[in-house]
Amino acid sequence: MSVILKASGISRRFKIGDGSIVNALQGVDLEVEGGQLVCLRGRSGSGKTTLINILGALDKPDEGNVVFDGRDITSLSSSQQDALRRHDMAFVFQSVALMSAMTAYENVEFALRLAGVPLLQRKQRARECLTRVGLEKRMTHRPGELSGGEQQRVAIARAVSHKPKIVFADEPTAALDTPTGMAVMKLFRDFIVSEGLTVVMTTHDEAMMELADKVYALEDGKLSV
Ligand SMILES: Nc1ncnc2c1ncn2[C@@H]1O[C@H](COP(=O)(O)OP(=O)(O)O)[C@@H](O)[C@H]1O
Ligand SMILES: [Mg+2]
Repeated sequence: MSVILKASGISRRFKIGDGSIVNALQGVDLEVEGGQLVCLRGRSGSGKTTLINILGALDKPDEGNVVFDGRDITSLSSSQQDALRRHDMAFVFQSVALMSAMTAYENVEFALRLAGVPLLQRKQRARECLTRVGLEKRMTHRPGELSGGEQQRVAIARAVSHKPKIVFADEPTAALDTPTGMAVMKLFRDFIVSEGLTVVMTTHDEAMMELADKVYALEDGKLSV
């Protein structure tokens, strides 16, 4: 497998209210191989969210660069970054962020509509993805009528529906109990095997890390080996 994502010398500073500077990331280098499940671990405040946001072009580093699929994504314009995120990347968050007025099916179908997928394919792919995450009997439920684990499954179905190359997931299992979290990890693994997806996720849960191909540990904004 080849390297799909490579971050070099990433630093990110935040200025806070009193004028002082937080060094959220300092000189982070990492590589992700295509088709792998990679975990970023670390305590709260260690820089996981800051790093995953930079890897997914949601934020820019102050120093360093990120090469994704052969392109330096840190130097793209914001509209180029938008296009990249729309086509090749997807995001899953701890708090699920589904549309509460839409059913599970509509949530996935709507995401496919935004991605420009034609109607017939949308219908088929939305059903396929929801079935693959075990929600074939819950397609007409709204988020409020689903458990936390089921909502996260909808979010995963939605994330993978437009066949991104990579999914970034920030603490996707943190709000779930361990068996439900493990089931979410297994779903990621299924899509890696069947669709060649790559997954980068943050966690502070040892049980989840054991299911990763590779774990990077962050400590105060630096990778520790
Ligand atoms: N927008 C921001 N403004 C100021 N400080 C921030 C901002 N985002 C993150 N930080 C600080 O950067 C550090 C890393 O935060 P974060 O990446 O959220 O860590 P984690 O996700 O591992 O909990 C923390 O000290 C946090 O307070
Ligand atoms: Mg975080």
